[in-house]
Amino acid sequence: MINEKVTVKTFQQMKDEKEKITMTTAYSYPLACIIDEVGIDSILVGDSLGMTVLGHKNTLNVVLEDSIRITKAVSRGVKRAFLIGDLPFLTYGINVEETKRNAGLLVKKGDCEAVKLEGGKERLEEVEAIKSIGVPVLGHLGLTPTYLNIFGGFKVQGKKHDDAEIILKDAKLLEEAGVFAIVLESIPWKLAQQITEELSIPTIGIGAGEFCDGQVLVIDDILGLNVQFKPKFVKQYTNLRESVKKAVTEYSDEVKSGKFPSEEFRYD
Ligand code: KIV
Repeated sequence: MINEKVTVKTFQQMKDEKEKITMTTAYSYPLACIIDEVGIDSILVGDSLGMTVLGHKNTLNVVLEDSIRITKAVSRGVKRAFLIGDLPFLTYGINVEETKRNAGLLVKKGDCEAVKLEGGKERLEEVEAIKSIGVPVLGHLGLTPTYLNIFGGFKVQGKKHDDAEIILKDAKLLEEAGVFAIVLESIPWKLAQQITEELSIPTIGIGAGEFCDGQVLVIDDILGLNVQFKPKFVKQYTNLRESVKKAVTEYSDEVKSGKFPSEEFRYD
């Protein structure tokens, strides 16, 4: 594990040295502290916060203020990891000036070190504009959740030859435009492998197989907090939902029965 602060340069170094890049999402100060302490290389405050934290059915309702507030909270817990904020739906894609301003605001007020946005060839000008004010950009291709209504649901992308070609081409165009890495979400592993081999910047996979340069998972999925839906690519490493249920039930039972608070928990 690289001991010093992870930067955008570390990402490239890790690809070049074939060291896998680890990334999780985070949405709160306490979890950010734990994730950072463990040595995860990068933390993404994804617009998935709309679903995990705010309870929306998808990410489309997230506004810039949500992302700024939550990214700022996470930033207070991060010392080593590279912190990336996620530009929500409609904070880009309108015009380049607005995109640049919104990216700048997320960094300025959210205290992150880079931003992510979704999309391929339609984003090139915006990527360059964001970089021009000094903000590194992470791309995102494949199952890009803000395109949910175009895709007709959360479906694997790039299965057909022509669709795969478009994703590969978009990846190359994004690299040329200057993104420092690209998230590949829910695409066939062979396509992700080809993109990873043909690009010189790192790929970060989520549901894109083992050949990507790094992996990202939503922290709620890792911890077993998400019960709404579980895509095939999610590996749940613990069941916090059950632990929380057990603890809160025990607390409630003890209050009802008068067992808590006992003498040791009171002041004289
Ligand atoms: O919003 C998010 O959490 C993401 C990751 C799943 C890549 O975009």
